[in-house]
Amino acid sequence: MRPSLEIRDLHVSIDDKEILSGVNLTIQGGEVHAIMGPNGTGKSTLASTMMGHPRYQVTQGEILIDGENIVGMKPDERARRGLFLAMQYPQELSGVTTGNFLRTAVNSLHPEHPMPVLQFHKLLTEKMKLLDIEPNFAQRYLNEGFSGGEKKRNEILQMAVLAPRLAVLDEIDSGLDIDAVKIVANGVNTLLGENMGVMIITHYERILRYVRPHFVHILLGGKVAVSGGPELADELEARGYDWIKTEADPALAE
Ligand SMILES: Nc1ncnc2c1ncn2[C@@H]1O[C@H](COP(=O)(O)OP(=O)(O)OP(=O)(O)O)[C@@H](O)[C@H]1O
Ligand SMILES: [Mg+2]
Repeated sequence: MRPSLEIRDLHVSIDDKEILSGVNLTIQGGEVHAIMGPNGTGKSTLASTMMGHPRYQVTQGEILIDGENIVGMKPDERARRGLFLAMQYPQELSGVTTGNFLRTAVNSLHPEHPMPVLQFHKLLTEKMKLLDIEPNFAQRYLNEGFSGGEKKRNEILQMAVLAPRLAVLDEIDSGLDIDAVKIVANGVNTLLGENMGVMIITHYERILRYVRPHFVHILLGGKVAVSGGPELADELEARGYDWIKTEADPALAE
């Protein structure tokens, strides 16, 4: 079944302070949606809330995957429904190789049928080739001594291996050199199909030149203030965000 994600009137608070106040968004398999917006506007809050981070309290609204509300579910239950989150600041886990970490992640999606080791290695090798990652990467300890770009590639490798139905990529492009942006974008494009929908949170129009979004949404004042096609990202690059506050929603202008 083609995946569908529907965020309805989502209100989220952190320590009783409301950050999101009525976000509406629908993503179907095969679609790329870019979420843009000024610093501190709640983009990462939206991503963490989708994954079920306990700090983020949903006070109103729903997050539906294939019509099922996932609010209240634990992160692993969400992952089993096909949700994947690549974080803005990936954490280091000490003493775990990248390959073992990925195998654990794959098997946690269906613990009752662990993937045979050889089959996993075949899958991993194939995806590493696809993303132009050198073979010894899998033997390296997870994120230890990884450069910024290597961490990002590792996240895309995770996505490739896990084959999620809905992927949320929070600033996957920050700190990448131009070749790495192309590799990451190429990875997303190769994986994209009817069976995967993607939310890309970004500040830069640059990655959107390579992963062309079907829709661009601007998060402002805790809501989606404006939605449009890819041309909206070009317009932001040229004009910044102030015009949205005044033209699109005068209530947001201070
Ligand atoms: N764990 C937290 N504890 C306290 N405040 C938080 C926490 N996470 C986010 N906030 C606050 O919520 C607001 C939204 O933050 P968020 O990280 O979602 O913004 P963002 O749109 O991702 O910004 P950026 O573009 O800088 O990544 C900010 O005012 C931030 O300080
Ligand atoms: Mg953020």
